[in-house]
Amino acid sequence: MKRVKVKVPTKVTLFGEHAVVYGFPAIASTIPVSINISGRLIDRPVIAIEIKQGFPITATTVIIDRDYVSVDLDQRRAKNLLGYILTAIDVCEQAMDIPKLSKGYSITVESSLPMGVGLGTSAAISAGVVSMCLLLNNGIAISNLEDQRYDIAKLAWNIERIVQGSASPMDTFTVTLGGLRFIEPLIPRATSIDIDYGIPIIIGYTDRRSSTAELIQKVRHLKDRSREIFDDILNTIGRIVNEAKKALIAQDFETLGLLMNINHSMLQALGAVSPEHDMLAHTLRRAGALGVKTSGAGGGGAFIVLAPNHETQTMLVRLVEAMGAKVVSDTLYHGGLEISVQDTN
Ligand code: PMV
Repeated sequence: MKRVKVKVPTKVTLFGEHAVVYGFPAIASTIPVSINISGRLIDRPVIAIEIKQGFPITATTVIIDRDYVSVDLDQRRAKNLLGYILTAIDVCEQAMDIPKLSKGYSITVESSLPMGVGLGTSAAISAGVVSMCLLLNNGIAISNLEDQRYDIAKLAWNIERIVQGSASPMDTFTVTLGGLRFIEPLIPRATSIDIDYGIPIIIGYTDRRSSTAELIQKVRHLKDRSREIFDDILNTIGRIVNEAKKALIAQDFETLGLLMNINHSMLQALGAVSPEHDMLAHTLRRAGALGVKTSGAGGGGAFIVLAPNHETQTMLVRLVEAMGAKVVSDTLYHGGLEISVQDTN
């Protein structure tokens, strides 16, 4: 019996969120905080899911008949998590022409990050479960993983679109391919931005009350109300992203910080910045941060801070924590999704 383990890093958006939904480029990177998924095929056609630490869910094990969801889950985020897992299995089986309800899976999902704060947990779960299912059914081989990363990323993107209604390829492509990426959603493609230095960055989050889907919808309403102004904001974000790519390559932190602050203001204009993040941005900039920006869909959730050097970075980490926000990482990550197989016989 095969047991497949998938380790998928989460991600942070550096520049270009929301505009990327409308075809503009974005920059995102994986971070060194992973979601671990493991799974095996089982005899009964049910999906048994064990959720370990990190997720706001009361039941730790849920058994779902393939044609009937028998659990009563009233928590929105828990339902959301199951939605990604079940859709990932469906998308995998459809891609492989596996007849519906013919297979059963036992899946364990483990995360130290909560879902829905803008750090790509849903993308990591989508990419992780779909690749686990493909491997269990011999749809991909570990020896060919490098050639198959784009195929996995596209399937994971499909899962996010089905569950959320609307999603860019940014999160799913970044977590699958890994590292610092320039995302061009219309192709779709996520090319690596190769840098050989560490960015003095802080990645943190505060509580978020709205889902990504709700925030995308809110921005869409704005578009319907003031079309031309909205287009100008998106064009400006697109220009910021292109300038940020150049600044990253040139290791120009001053410009990078300035661009983060301008991108943050554009997110404010789109109504995606919470009062808590306004306060954080103001305080951290006064304390020496070069740039502070809401990251991801907004309404609270993830944010990034750029320090001028590592000493100031350490001081700013303490300040972020003193203000009640959580620090997730003080570095970006180079890797993407990793798979291993164990023979449990
Ligand atoms: O908050 P997150 O990680 O779900 O990020 C969403 C980023 C958006 O650009 C708003 C949506 C997307 O699909 O790219």
